[in-house]
Amino acid sequence: MQALNSSVKIAVIGAGAMGSGIAQVAAQAGHQVYLQDQQAGAAEKGKAGVAKVLQKRVDKGKMQQADLDALLSRIQPVDALEELADAGLVIEAIIENLDIKRQLFANLESICGEEVILATNTSSILVTSLGAQLKRPERLLGMHFFNPAPLMALVEVILGLATDKKLAEVVHATATAWGKKPVFATSTPGFIVNRVARPFYAESLRLMQEQAADPATLDALLREAGSFRMGPFELMDLIGHDVNYAVTESVFSAYYGDFRFQPSLIQKALVEAGRLGRKTGQGFYSYAEGAERPTAATQPQQSFTEQPVIIEGELGAASGLAERFKQAGLNVIERAGAGVLRYGEATLALTDGRMAGERLVTDGLQDLVVFDLAKDYKNATRLAIAAAKQTSTTAINDATALLQKAGLAVSLLSDAPGLVVMRTLAMLANEAADAVLQGVASAADVDLAMCAGVNYPQGPLSWSDNLGQGVIWQVLTNLQASYGEDRYRPSLLLRQYAFTGQSFSV
Ligand SMILES: NC(=O)c1ccc[n+]([C@@H]2O[C@H](COP(=O)([O-])OP(=O)(O)OC[C@H]3O[C@@H](n4cnc5c(N)ncnc54)[C@H](O)[C@@H]3O)[C@@H](O)[C@H]2O)c1
Repeated sequence: MQALNSSVKIAVIGAGAMGSGIAQVAAQAGHQVYLQDQQAGAAEKGKAGVAKVLQKRVDKGKMQQADLDALLSRIQPVDALEELADAGLVIEAIIENLDIKRQLFANLESICGEEVILATNTSSILVTSLGAQLKRPERLLGMHFFNPAPLMALVEVILGLATDKKLAEVVHATATAWGKKPVFATSTPGFIVNRVARPFYAESLRLMQEQAADPATLDALLREAGSFRMGPFELMDLIGHDVNYAVTESVFSAYYGDFRFQPSLIQKALVEAGRLGRKTGQGFYSYAEGAERPTAATQPQQSFTEQPVIIEGELGAASGLAERFKQAGLNVIERAGAGVLRYGEATLALTDGRMAGERLVTDGLQDLVVFDLAKDYKNATRLAIAAAKQTSTTAINDATALLQKAGLAVSLLSDAPGLVVMRTLAMLANEAADAVLQGVASAADVDLAMCAGVNYPQGPLSWSDNLGQGVIWQVLTNLQASYGEDRYRPSLLLRQYAFTGQSFSV
């Protein structure tokens, strides 16, 4: 499908954080852009904000002054809605309020031509509800940019019940022409990113609540073993707890209280205390001048004694760890067995979603130490372990010494089922699989959205493909049994793929 020609005029309504950024994106692509805001002077201020940001690029020699001047000449602040009459695409980025947005679209229908495409940048209101009272609801769709719009590549193109699919394709092609990475999604609560990302925060909040580890340790593990750019606590502090909590609450209530999306009391307390994160100087961490960031809990250095590392059977998802031991020059002996590692007194196994204490008894594994998933064992710099109450201190020290010898910092957690990276990935993949099962988006678009929208190191579905759906399904099944909670119920699609051996092929 053809993108809108750059001669088509674009109107952006609402010149706040999002609207100004969207106006910049459209102007950069060569369109004439009207920028309108109901507040006097706000559109000029929005344009001045764009000029200020881009002037820095000019000063650094990354942009020509003439190009900036030309771009700015294409952004025209306007006062009245009537001045947008000849726009071909109108994108609203006003206050997040159903009635006010509905009124705006009703006004636009009477001002703009019949061929206009109406788009909303809403994060949480259904496109279907916004279009309900329109004369031409088929011409309304979602065009959900991420903040900051000029930098974030993702645009979720949202189809309401009435949306004309051809128009959605035009908008998708237009977003591509604007240098974005668009995906299609149906109008369901949270669309793709705000739904699928919930467990990234929720599982760490829960681990903290259960005193498995503190925020600095959990953040470090998701960065250094999970390869996520930021840990969940530092990211929530950046987003603002008021904003992050409001999104969680809205998705939770929109899904009729599905416990997969249950908000956290810890975050609620922060919001009520006014500890909103960076913007108030205090969230999980302090941002006061001179405040030092707490460091991750790390096991003290243990002395390594030369003895063989025995690998019994296939390590599956953890085979990269065996490679790492070989590369570190350790004496690795391989023999048949049930997929465990033995070193000194310790028996080490990749977490399967059971507590070490339960697994030690059930599987008869003495001195068991479970370890976490790493995105890439060869390059991870830290790994979580947990031990059963019955596991000896010598075994824990042996396991620590072995991992340290291979260059890993070790964080010992309490015996939390699924540890951190495995549990987070399992829940992300579960949510992503359900979104595919329910036809919200294709597997490829879900993965693209999570990489382009929130910088995940790999889409949860292709990551799950790499491990095998059986691994993820088993972890979830064990988590569900551990907690006895519906929250961890595996998606039907994961269960199906685990038994059929299918993959998401993304
Ligand atoms: N901030 C984000 O991270 C983010 C990300 C994606 C989507 N969104 C969505 O984008 C929209 C705007 O968010 P924002 O963060 O830019 O808000 P903002 O408060 O920064 O800006 C909103 C602007 O809209 C103006 N406005 C309000 N009512 C108006 C009306 N009836 N007509 C014209 N202008 C009006 C306000 O004066 C203000 O300048 C919301 O729907 C929000 O859910 C926000």
